[in-house]
Amino acid sequence: MHRIASFSDLKSTSANVALERALHVDSEFCLIPVGEWVLQDRYASVVESLVSWRRKNASSFFSPGDHSEASMKSYLRDKSIADSSRILFLVAEQEGFRAVGHLGLSQAVPGYGAELDNVMRGVEDLKPDLMRQATLKLLGWAHENVPGRRFWLRVRGDNHRALRFYQSLGFTVAWMSRLDDQGKSGVSEVRMEIDVRSANRSRGRNRPTI
Ligand SMILES: CC(C)(COP(=O)(O)OP(=O)(O)OC[C@H]1O[C@@H](n2cnc3c(N)ncnc32)[C@H](O)[C@@H]1OP(=O)(O)O)[C@@H](O)C(=O)NCCC(=O)NCCS
Repeated sequence: MHRIASFSDLKSTSANVALERALHVDSEFCLIPVGEWVLQDRYASVVESLVSWRRKNASSFFSPGDHSEASMKSYLRDKSIADSSRILFLVAEQEGFRAVGHLGLSQAVPGYGAELDNVMRGVEDLKPDLMRQATLKLLGWAHENVPGRRFWLRVRGDNHRALRFYQSLGFTVAWMSRLDDQGKSGVSEVRMEIDVRSANRSRGRNRPTI
């Protein structure tokens, strides 16, 4: 496991510090790094949101999971925060700390890249293009801070919305494999990759910087 200094530095125990270290997507929204602060009782509503989004979108992901608040907290503490090659960001309004989604990186290898994972739009009523701009922001940041330029992801072959979303960003299909051996007959796993230098910034009025 590779320790990425910038990941560890961002995982704060204080929500105020996390907000100070947030990546700004635009004048309203930012990416707040998830650290120990999220486990505090006063942020229970954030964990509740994560659980309800995951339940609502269970069929979009590979592992069903049990989706309880306790299991989400265990995941955040033991898998996400504790793993120095992994980081999760909330997509949130800067004012009021309202989370509307999340996205993250895992398996980061300095000098190479990382896996884009946990991409979730939690709220349907979002300004158009927010998830796209948030993802481009994260990739641009990761390009500088992992550092690396190769990013990949895994998506279910029947998740057409996500496939279109990633294609619009410039990800291309590297390979596909059937998941029959895991008892998920008929579903394929699609691996998509991008070299961030070719990320598609052409859509949307506010072009993010990579
Ligand atoms: C995947 C996700 C992050 C995309 O973000 P988004 O803000 O919804 O993106 P968009 O609304 O721009 O939709 C992406 C594309 O899918 C299209 N789309 C919308 N609904 C669709 C549907 N039901 N079926 C197929 N395509 C659909 C959109 O028109 C758009 O295509 P376009 O760029 O050609 O116009 C979001 O839908 C989400 O969180 N889904 C649930 C969790 C998930 O699947 N995560 C990814 C796991 S790998």
